[in-house]
Amino acid sequence: MLVTKQPVFRKFWYPVIPTADLLGSPQPFTLLGQKIVLWLDAEGKPAAAKDRCCHRSAQLSLGKVVNGAIACPYHGWQFDSSGRCVCVPQLKDVGIPAAARIETYRCTEKYGYAWVCLDEPIAEIPHIAEAFESDFRLIPEFYETWKCAGLRVMENELDLAHPTFVHTTTFGSEDHPTPDRLEITETPSGLRAHGVLGVVNPELQQQNLKMESAQTYRTLDMLWFMPFTIKLSIAYANGLVHIIVNTMTPIDDLTSQMVQFCIRNDTEQDTPSADAIAFDRAVTLEDKRILESTDCDVPLAPNREQHMFTDKPGLTIRKKIAELLKAHGETEQ
Ligand code: FES
Ligand code: CO
Repeated sequence: MLVTKQPVFRKFWYPVIPTADLLGSPQPFTLLGQKIVLWLDAEGKPAAAKDRCCHRSAQLSLGKVVNGAIACPYHGWQFDSSGRCVCVPQLKDVGIPAAARIETYRCTEKYGYAWVCLDEPIAEIPHIAEAFESDFRLIPEFYETWKCAGLRVMENELDLAHPTFVHTTTFGSEDHPTPDRLEITETPSGLRAHGVLGVVNPELQQQNLKMESAQTYRTLDMLWFMPFTIKLSIAYANGLVHIIVNTMTPIDDLTSQMVQFCIRNDTEQDTPSADAIAFDRAVTLEDKRILESTDCDVPLAPNREQHMFTDKPGLTIRKKIAELLKAHGETEQ
């Protein structure tokens, strides 16, 4: 399956850029193969539109923001966040033609990012309750391009067989090649998986997380939100809860934007943000190396790849994506 060939993916929200990155000039982005431009409107809210001027097709992202409107770099036409042309410098006296409009997209701010949906949404932006609770803090972690399919990353997070071989410098242990089973429940927005990560290496954990070995076993509670967001809650025996929220925003069929933040119930004094990011960074880079070697065409049909019991969450994801396509009259492309 290739993401740009399945129009249903245009009906979901994706985080495309940290809102803070829009404070200066407009920014380009490619979402599901569509070139878009993002900027901050007159109220400071993010706005998104097709990155094409309706006059002579110049890229609006090369322009600038004037009083919350995006100004084209070619002849200076300006458009507000609804797409309406609000200024044509050459036509000051005769008015602006009503047809002078650009195509805009739904855009809103959440968790510090501008989220965009290219079509009529069929799901809300994933709700992460702890992001709104006072005893948790949100730490932005990564925003970068990965050369792989988002679906592979979703499956990888629910795949307890890989840490033994992939996370050899952070927490994996070759002493535990056979992981415990996850308990899987399907939800309206995706799936929930629950279990204990029994593959941890206590020495590495002590060294990397500064925890006593008896405290390093992790209870996992994972929520997958269709199609490319996953929330991974890791609860340690000492009461620390470290929640990783990851979205693989689909750029095109070969690349995804990896957006990750974490939410924790400790303080900056307990664990400096930089330390939390550094550990997750090391883990993430171990995953990236392998995931970028995988095929971007992720088959939904079960007979094109081989499977084992630890693939059950991933196979449930594939089944649910296949059902989604079918419900929208699409076949796997
Ligand atoms: Fe944009 Fe002419 S191409 S104003
Ligand atoms: Co991993």
